[in-house]
Amino acid sequence: MHRRLIAPGALAAASLMLAIPASAASFSPGAPGIGDPYYPDYGNGGYDVSHYDLRLKYQPATDELEGTATLLARTTQDLSRFDLDFLLDVSEVRVNGAKASFTTSGEHELEITPKSPLAKGTSVTVVVRYSGVPSSKQAYGFTSWHRTPDGGVGANEPEAAWWWFPSNDHPLDKATYDVSVLVPDGSQAISNGTLQSTSSRLGWTRWNWRSDKPQATYLATLAVGRFDLTTGTTDGGIPVVNAYSKDLGANAGAARASVERTGEIADWLSGYFGPYPFDALGGYVPNTTTGYALETQTRPFYSPRQFANGSNTSVVVHELAHQWYGDLVSVRGWKDIWINEGFARYAQWLWSEHEDEGTAQELADYVYASHPADDTFWTVRPGDPGPENQFDIAVYDRGALALQALRNEIGDEAFFAVLKGWPQKHAYGNASVADFQRYAEEVSGQPLAGLFDTWLFQPSKPGAPAARGAAI
Ligand code: ARG
Ligand code: ZN
Repeated sequence: MHRRLIAPGALAAASLMLAIPASAASFSPGAPGIGDPYYPDYGNGGYDVSHYDLRLKYQPATDELEGTATLLARTTQDLSRFDLDFLLDVSEVRVNGAKASFTTSGEHELEITPKSPLAKGTSVTVVVRYSGVPSSKQAYGFTSWHRTPDGGVGANEPEAAWWWFPSNDHPLDKATYDVSVLVPDGSQAISNGTLQSTSSRLGWTRWNWRSDKPQATYLATLAVGRFDLTTGTTDGGIPVVNAYSKDLGANAGAARASVERTGEIADWLSGYFGPYPFDALGGYVPNTTTGYALETQTRPFYSPRQFANGSNTSVVVHELAHQWYGDLVSVRGWKDIWINEGFARYAQWLWSEHEDEGTAQELADYVYASHPADDTFWTVRPGDPGPENQFDIAVYDRGALALQALRNEIGDEAFFAVLKGWPQKHAYGNASVADFQRYAEEVSGQPLAGLFDTWLFQPSKPGAPAARGAAI
């Protein structure tokens, strides 16, 4: 009460003095990157986001996206300012309620200077109001927002968020998400997790999605278009929601015949990897010409092209295997991409065996034999491929071959114990290739440095794979 006796100006000065002077010198800008050597300006320094609330409106006819992102974060250093990664046009930023100044820099940085500096270890709420046409924005010469005849879809790796929400864009900073998108009646908005509700008024429908387990930014997705939704439940009791563009043409049957098996395949994978780690599941197929699929958390993205030759359960196995290897346990840095792709490919080999289409060993032998020693395939080192080769076929095929070599070295019992134990050991976190080697050594009781070096780190074709299991 007695504070009211103090003149307003004096009060402001007094509280400012409490907040800053003693340590003002230690307040510095957060780094424009989180410290990933492959992508030095991806992610940011100085804070950690725990939750993204994205309340958006999207007009499919014009590809206009607008809305508000509210980020709940905690500072990890004394901050005079900090960055978010973002490309759309920002109209206002508030930090802890107060208007902040902001500017753009670099390829995709939004530099925010709060009215008052932020002390280390404190909660921060950042509100960003924005709008833009995501397909018109490029960074490094490309866009991850794919326009479709009836809308658009944001999905790419390692960068997708810049085109639709401001973020700390690196797998090291996982968070939960509420994604609420207003679209014209007759269109649907698809995202991760559980569809909490939809509601319509004034010709617009709001779609409310919640992803309530830690999720990396590149695994957040948004698609708007005209979709048919299907629902189901896995044997394990997980609700399944799939979405198919109404415009898949000749690929429509094969897409459904594959993605509708999502629940069955997730149950089958849980036999190898342990319980399915999220509380929602599904897949979606927009009418995009994009060539790849992506393991967007709980609800992978598939391109119709994957179903051009008929059903393709193998790609469903691949993207669902990533739910454990990639999503539940994510890379520590992008150099660790093998702990995603090597395992998702190996899961496809196990599925092939299950389907009587060739055993994992036969597929490993085939990959080994089909690349002669002078093939550049062997110059790619899956354990540290470089950003230019992050998604090279060798990361996948040579990566899975490395797992077959590991299996033959430590035997089936230890190998499958490792496959199942690893997702639990690092659940909802991050890990590296080196962490995986240590874990395999721990479980098998064998030193494995030589094997890992040969199969993951040498730029040359290894000698014939070691003799197999019980054969000797
Ligand atoms: N993780 C995805 C998959 O293996 C690959 C994404 C490749 N990204 C790209 N832009 N080509 O299914
Ligand atoms: Zn993959």
